[in-house]
Amino acid sequence: MNARKKQESAKSEAVHRGVRQDEGMRLASIRPAIEVCDLSFAYPDGHAVLHHINLSIEQGERVAIVGPNGAGKSTLMLHFNGILKGEGTVRVDGMEVAGPNLPRVRALVGMVFQNPDDQLFSPTVFDDVAYGPIYMGLAQDEVQRQVTWALQQVDMEGYASRVSHHLSVGEKKRIAIATVLAMEPSILVLDEPSADLDPRARRTLIQLLKRLPQTLIISSHDLRLVKELCWRTIILDEGRIVADGPTLKLLSDEQLLYAHGLEPV
Ligand SMILES: Nc1ncnc2c1ncn2[C@@H]1O[C@H](COP(=O)(O)OP(=O)(O)OP(=O)(O)O)[C@@H](O)[C@H]1O
Ligand SMILES: [Mg+2]
Repeated sequence: MNARKKQESAKSEAVHRGVRQDEGMRLASIRPAIEVCDLSFAYPDGHAVLHHINLSIEQGERVAIVGPNGAGKSTLMLHFNGILKGEGTVRVDGMEVAGPNLPRVRALVGMVFQNPDDQLFSPTVFDDVAYGPIYMGLAQDEVQRQVTWALQQVDMEGYASRVSHHLSVGEKKRIAIATVLAMEPSILVLDEPSADLDPRARRTLIQLLKRLPQTLIISSHDLRLVKELCWRTIILDEGRIVADGPTLKLLSDEQLLYAHGLEPV
C-alpha cells in the first residue's frame, strides 16, 4: 500500500471508529468540515436545549443526527451556520462561526430548514431558487443554468413559474432543497429532508444525496434513509450526545434505540 492509500485508509478507519478530531487531524492533516467544542445553548426564554456538545465531522463525511422530538437536533444544526449562537465554539472549515466570518461560513454551509416555509419567501419558485446564485454574484445565464439544474435534481423542472407558497408541503420541501443545491455549497445540512415526501420523491432524494460529493449532515426520523446514506450516526437526546459511531452498529443496538425513543428498522 502506498503512503497516500495508507493515510486514506487510516483516516477512514479513524472516522469509522469515531475517533477524536485531533487524531483524525494527525492522520489526515485536513481541517474538519465542522467542529463543535463544548457547545451549550438556551433559548431566550431560558429553555436550556444543548449541553456540552462535542463533535467533529470530516470533509466528505455523511453523518446523521437522530433522536426523539425535542432532543435539540434542529437547534444544534442552526449553530452550523450561525443562525443560533451558544456558549462554546463551532468551527466550519477551521473558521469560527461568529462575527465577520459569517458571510464566508454561510457560503460554505447550505442549510435546508425543517419547515420549508422558513426557506421560501419569493413570489415564484424561480426567484426562490435563483436567490442564492444571484446573491453569489453569478451572471444571468449561469443563474438560469443553476436554477434549471437544481430543479431537475428534485424532479421539479416544470415548477419555475409557480407561486412558492401555493405549493403542497412536499413540493415546497423539494423546492427548499433546490434553493440550497443551486448554490452548490461544500457542506449540506438537511433538517428532515424526507419529511412529507412521497415514496418516489424520497427515492429521488436518496439517489441525489448519494451522488453528491459534499459533506452531508442530515437530521432525520427516517432511519431507513439514514441507513442507506450515512455511514456515521450521532444520537442526540435531551440536548446531549448519547452515541456517536457507525450507523449499522448503532441502529442494530435495540436497547440503545428504545432508550432514546427510537425503533429498529
Ligand atoms: N424559539 C424557541 N424558544 C424556546 N424553546 C424552543 C424554541 N425552539 C425550540 N425550542 C425548544 O427546544 C427544544 C429542542 O427543539 P428542536 O426543534 O431543536 O428539537 P428537534 O430534536 O429538532 O425535534 P424534532 O424531532 O421535533 O424536529 C424543544 O423542547 C423545543 O420546544
Ligand atoms: Mg427538528
